[in-house]
Amino acid sequence: MDTSKTKPLDDVIELSNKFTALNNELLNAKRELVKQNIELERLRTELQDKNEALAGMNIELEKRVEERTRLLSLAIDEIDDFAYSLSHDLRTPLRGIDGFSAVLIDDYKDKLDAQAIKHLNGIRKDAQHLGVVLDALHSLTKVSRRALQRTMVNLSDMAESIMQNLLNKHTEIKPEYHIQQGMIENCDRDLVMLVLGNLLSNAIKFSQNVEKPTIDFGIRSKDKRKTYFVRDNGVGFNMDYATKLFHNFQRLHSNNEFEGIGIGLAMVRRVVSKHGGSIWVESEVGKGTEFQFSLEL
Ligand SMILES: Nc1ncnc2c1ncn2[C@@H]1O[C@H](COP(=O)(O)OP(=O)(O)O)[C@@H](O)[C@H]1O
Ligand SMILES: [Mg+2]
Repeated sequence: MDTSKTKPLDDVIELSNKFTALNNELLNAKRELVKQNIELERLRTELQDKNEALAGMNIELEKRVEERTRLLSLAIDEIDDFAYSLSHDLRTPLRGIDGFSAVLIDDYKDKLDAQAIKHLNGIRKDAQHLGVVLDALHSLTKVSRRALQRTMVNLSDMAESIMQNLLNKHTEIKPEYHIQQGMIENCDRDLVMLVLGNLLSNAIKFSQNVEKPTIDFGIRSKDKRKTYFVRDNGVGFNMDYATKLFHNFQRLHSNNEFEGIGIGLAMVRRVVSKHGGSIWVESEVGKGTEFQFSLEL
């Protein structure tokens, strides 16, 4: 048999077989692809469902946070209202206790012995202290209730007049002080007066016993954020207790060392956060203290 004649036919058959095999492979691959596509589509739908569920949960969560915040600020308002009226209503009876004790001491001094007069003076002293505490509480609640009224305020001038007022009241204390000039801020004048008044009076108070008391008030700009500082070289304190200071009635020094009631910094913090700013402190025992604050976000 002449094989040379059948050769092209064989080639065609072989080629056709290869083609069929390839076609089958392609068909298989296509089937596989379709399967994978279906699986992918299923996964996509599942993901979409999960995304939708998550979005729903987020909305629900936001609603809950909003509701809790609303309830919380309601509760805070109620506490503030309560403290406001309490501090107001207790003033009159307190003045009575002090006043009637004074009358007893004056009008009955012949009938009362020394011990009784000592006790009465004790009552007066406590009543007066309570009066100061109530006044401070009253001012504190007033800060919360007041709506912010921003205007351009020259803080340098404000600090200068506060320092002069304070030093006129305590002529025995003569700190050296430096106030950076030209510090202008868009803020609530009356409220910021409380901030500077408290920080500067603390600086004077807690540096009065060091050899050369020095107080600085100035500004630093960092990342376009203005930060004010009030610094003294006074007694300082242990930084472990730094966060306590900004809470009501918290003091790190006793009344025998330095007089006070511990409400000033709580008030300062309220004013600063009302402005959207923050306050922090750095201190070292025996070296001095620096308060820093901002009045914007
Ligand atoms: N400049 C300062 N140096 C050292 N301690 C300070 C300074 N300012 C505040 N403190 C500490 O923080 C406490 C709270 O301050 P504040 O609220 O103003 O209350 P007060 O002045 O009535 O003591 C102070 O009693 C004191 O212990
Ligand atoms: Mg103070």
